[in-house]
Amino acid sequence: MFSTLKPVETDPILGLMAAFRADPNPQKIDLGVGVYRDDHGHTPILASVKTAEQQYLASETTKTYVGMAGDEQYNTAMSQLILGDVYAAVSERFRTVQTPGGTGALRVAAEFILRCNPDASLWVGSPTWANHWDLFGAAGLPIREYPYYNCADKDLDADAMLAKLATAGPDDVVLLHACCHNPSGMDPTFAQWEAVCDLALERGFLPLVDMAYQGFGDGLDADAAGVRLLAERLPELIVCTSCSKNFGLYRERIGGCAVLSASQTLADTVKSTLENTVRGIYSMPPHHGAAIVGTILSDPELREQWSAELALMRDRLNTLRQLMSRQLAQAGAAGDFSFIERQKGMFSFLGITPEQVARLRDEDSIYMVSSGRMNVAGISHDNVDRFAEAVARVLAQD
Ligand code: LMR
Repeated sequence: MFSTLKPVETDPILGLMAAFRADPNPQKIDLGVGVYRDDHGHTPILASVKTAEQQYLASETTKTYVGMAGDEQYNTAMSQLILGDVYAAVSERFRTVQTPGGTGALRVAAEFILRCNPDASLWVGSPTWANHWDLFGAAGLPIREYPYYNCADKDLDADAMLAKLATAGPDDVVLLHACCHNPSGMDPTFAQWEAVCDLALERGFLPLVDMAYQGFGDGLDADAAGVRLLAERLPELIVCTSCSKNFGLYRERIGGCAVLSASQTLADTVKSTLENTVRGIYSMPPHHGAAIVGTILSDPELREQWSAELALMRDRLNTLRQLMSRQLAQAGAAGDFSFIERQKGMFSFLGITPEQVARLRDEDSIYMVSSGRMNVAGISHDNVDRFAEAVARVLAQD
């Protein structure tokens, strides 16, 4: 049976973790996988997470099954975190299931969409997170592209995006990134969210929002402005969330798939369909991450502490963006890198070729995704000069 298999290429993002670990160069710089790092290169457990985890472990009385939808305290708290003030107005039409990470949420969403409409297609922006292609493709959803980022202008190509979306219809699901676009770091303005919302109403397509970085751009509420607008104005919406980055719970695999329906009755049918979908994939989610997030979000003190820790991560990323753009200019790197300061969140599209990325890896032990996507959090005050000089040299070689 197995002899039919061909070796599979390493994952373009996760494969970098192994390559980086194997590199003996003590000066190596990891700008690959999207994991937050402090100025010492560590990914510490947040203090609010540690406290919530200890509280939960002390109070935990059973390890029995939680059920297909996961922890309902977590589901409600996450719904409120996503929708803020809008939640009260739509709560009767909004249903969430806890999932194993944001990727689990996207996979549940994909299978749910195909159960609603076997003729559905998914539209992804060009470019999008590389794994969107694999996971939606594996679920059997046909994938189409709409223009998103213009590499020459280093900006969102809003006209081209809206023109393409104006051709989408009721069988189409349009994937949008809520904030901190992965890989480009370039987000729509509120006016562009309004234009997308108008098109969804006019053309009848369903937005599917991937929200993996709430709080990493401009703040917990500001980063949700687009998704809240859609929830206020549209009859239907899917939002997939992840707590990997904003709670630093990467390996706990905790996320959620939230669906807004046109009526309360439909919302109940949606919830039972989501639960049945989950049952057919992994039966039910693990509980530990949900217990931590649920504890933090329901305790005012812990919530405030977490929100301050998140603000520190966000501020560090924004400071690093300024530092990088200044150091690249000082190192004489060809081109204007001030666009880095306009991008949001963990990633920046550096605008260098896959060959230049390979040279940075081979000559300087600097690791990033071959598209030129870099994890800004991998930069530190200690390595920024080395990084800027290497980029300047590689650019000068062409
Ligand atoms: C990334 O884009 O680097 C992260 O979301 C990690 C992943 O799973 O790809």
